[in-house]
Amino acid sequence: MSFLRAVRVTQARPVRSWKPSTAIFLSPIRFASTSPSQTLKIAGRDVSVPTGIFINNEFHKSLANNTFGVENPSNGQEVLRIQEGREEDVDAAVTAARKAFESSEWANSDPVWRGELLNRLAELMERDKEDIIALEMLDTGKTYRQASTLDFPGSVGPLKYYAGWADKVLGLTSFNIPGTFAYTRREPVGVCGQIIPWNFPLLMFIWKIAPALATGNTIVIKSAEATPLSALKICELIKEAGFPAGVVNLVSGFGKTVGNAIASHMDVDKLAFTGSTATGRTILKASASSNLKKVTLELGGKSPNIVFPDADIEKAVEWAAWGINMNFGQTCHAGTRIYVHEDIYDEFVSAYAKRLSSLKVGDNFDSSVDQGPQNSRMQYEKILGYIESGKEEGAKIEIGGKAAKTGPEGGYYIEPTVFTNVKPDMKIMREEIFGPVVCIAKFRTEEEVLKYANDTTYGLASAVNTKDYERALRITNGLKAGTAWVNMYNFVHWTIPFGGYKQSGFGRECGEAALENYTEVKAVYYNTGLPAPK
Ligand code: NAI
Ligand code: MG
Repeated sequence: MSFLRAVRVTQARPVRSWKPSTAIFLSPIRFASTSPSQTLKIAGRDVSVPTGIFINNEFHKSLANNTFGVENPSNGQEVLRIQEGREEDVDAAVTAARKAFESSEWANSDPVWRGELLNRLAELMERDKEDIIALEMLDTGKTYRQASTLDFPGSVGPLKYYAGWADKVLGLTSFNIPGTFAYTRREPVGVCGQIIPWNFPLLMFIWKIAPALATGNTIVIKSAEATPLSALKICELIKEAGFPAGVVNLVSGFGKTVGNAIASHMDVDKLAFTGSTATGRTILKASASSNLKKVTLELGGKSPNIVFPDADIEKAVEWAAWGINMNFGQTCHAGTRIYVHEDIYDEFVSAYAKRLSSLKVGDNFDSSVDQGPQNSRMQYEKILGYIESGKEEGAKIEIGGKAAKTGPEGGYYIEPTVFTNVKPDMKIMREEIFGPVVCIAKFRTEEEVLKYANDTTYGLASAVNTKDYERALRITNGLKAGTAWVNMYNFVHWTIPFGGYKQSGFGRECGEAALENYTEVKAVYYNTGLPAPK
C-alpha cells in the first residue's frame, strides 16, 4: 500500500474556468461558529448526532442560521432541531466540492486509496452500527429487525463492493484501425449533486455516494427533510475515515430551496435523484434550463406480482406479504398490484388476508412489532386519502382500511389494507400509495395478465410465481420493468443493476452499471502513420 501511495499521480488537472455565483463572489463565506452535536436518548442509548451543514469536513451553522425540526413518527414529537441549508449554503458546498475535485489530491488520486477510504468508512459504520440503527429507527419509524437486516447491511455491502471497483474501472484499446491506435479513459464526471428520499435515508445515502467516490467524483448531497439524521452521522465518519475536505458535502434542508438549488446549479456536473416522479420531472426541467447536467432518476412504481395456480401458494403468500410489509409499503418497488389466477383466487385472497392480519402494528421500538408507523404525517394522511378513494370507487376492503389504534399516541399507524373487486382505472390501481395497501385482481390467461401488469405508466419492478420455468421465462420477458422476480419479491442486491423502465426513471444504480453514471468516456486517438486527407 505504501508503495502505491508513494507513486500516486500528482500531476495537476487544468483548472476549469467557472465563476462562483455573485452572492459568494461579493461576500466571502464566513460561517458562524461550528454547529454542535446533540446527544439523543434512543431506547436507553445515548447517541450523539451532529446538527450542522457539512462542508469541507466541518459541521457549520447554515449561513442564514435557520433550523428545522426532526420528528419521531412513532409519536409525532419533535426530537431535535438541525441546521437548515438554503441556496447560499448550496453555493458554498459546490465551491468546496469543485475545489476538492480540481485538487490533484482527489482528481488524480490513486484508486487503490479511494477503495481503502471506502472500506475504512464501512469499518467505522460497523463500529457504530447500533448508534446508526438507533438514529435511523428514531427518524424513520423502521423496526430494529428491518433496519438491522436490510438497511444496515444494504449500506455497508455497497461501500465494500464499490471499494473493490475503485481500481478496476478501465478503458479499452484498439489497434484495429489502420494508421492509428486508440484508447479510452474513464474520467470522473466532476461535482455530483445527489438528492435522496426519506424511505431509506441511510441506504440511499450510501448507494449514491459509493460509486461516485470510487470513480473520483466529489459530492454535494441533500438528505430528505423528514429523515436527515443518519446522513449527518455518516458525514462525521467520512471525516474520520480520512476523506479529503470537500469531497463529500451535505446540505440538510427542503426540496424547493436546497434541492432546487442543486438541480439548477451551473457548476454541478451531474445529478442523481431518487424520489417521486413529479419531483423527477421538476429536476429534469431544472437541468434543461441550467447547464444540462447529466441526470439519472430513480422514481416511483406500481409493481405487479402475478400468481399462477402451479405456484407454491404458501410461499407465494409469504413473499407477497413481504412485498408490502418491507418498510411498511414505503418502498418504490413494493408489490402493490397482485394478480391471482381465477382457479386459486379465493384460496389466495383468504390466506393473504390472514397473513397480513397477523402482522403486529405498533411502536417500532417494540421488538415484537412487524409494522411501525408511516414516516410522516403527510404520508400518513396521503395513504388514508387513498384508502378513502378506494372505498368511494367501489373496491371491497378485505382487511384493514383505517388508521390503526395502537402504539404511542400521535404516531402514524395504519392497518395493513387489502382491496379486492378492483378495476384497472381506479386511483388505488394506478397511483403510488407508498403505504401498507394492496390491491388484488383476478386473471385467466397469460396474455391477459401481461396486459394488466404492463398497464401502468411505471416500470420499476414485477414478479411472477410459478413452478413452470418456461412460463416464468415468457412472463419475465414480457414484463416491462427494470426488475422481475420469480418466486420471490422485494429482493434487491447491490451487485445487480436496479432502475426503471418508462416513468420509473432512467439510469441504473448498483452493480457495475452505476459506474457508468459517474464516469465520462474520453476517446484518445494516436496517429501511427495515417496521412492527412486531401
Ligand atoms: P419527493 O420526490 O418530493 O422527495 C424526494 C426528495 O426530493 C427529497 O429530498 C425532497 O426534499 C426533494 N425535493 C422535493 N422537491 C424538490 C425540488 N423541487 N427540487 C429538488 N429536490 C426536491 O417525494 P415526497 O414529497 O417526499 O413524497 C411524495 C411521494 O413520492 C411519496 O408518497 C411516494 O409516492 C413518492 N416517493 C417515491 C420514492 C421512491 O423511492 N421512488 C421515495 C420518496 C417518495
Ligand atoms: Mg423523521
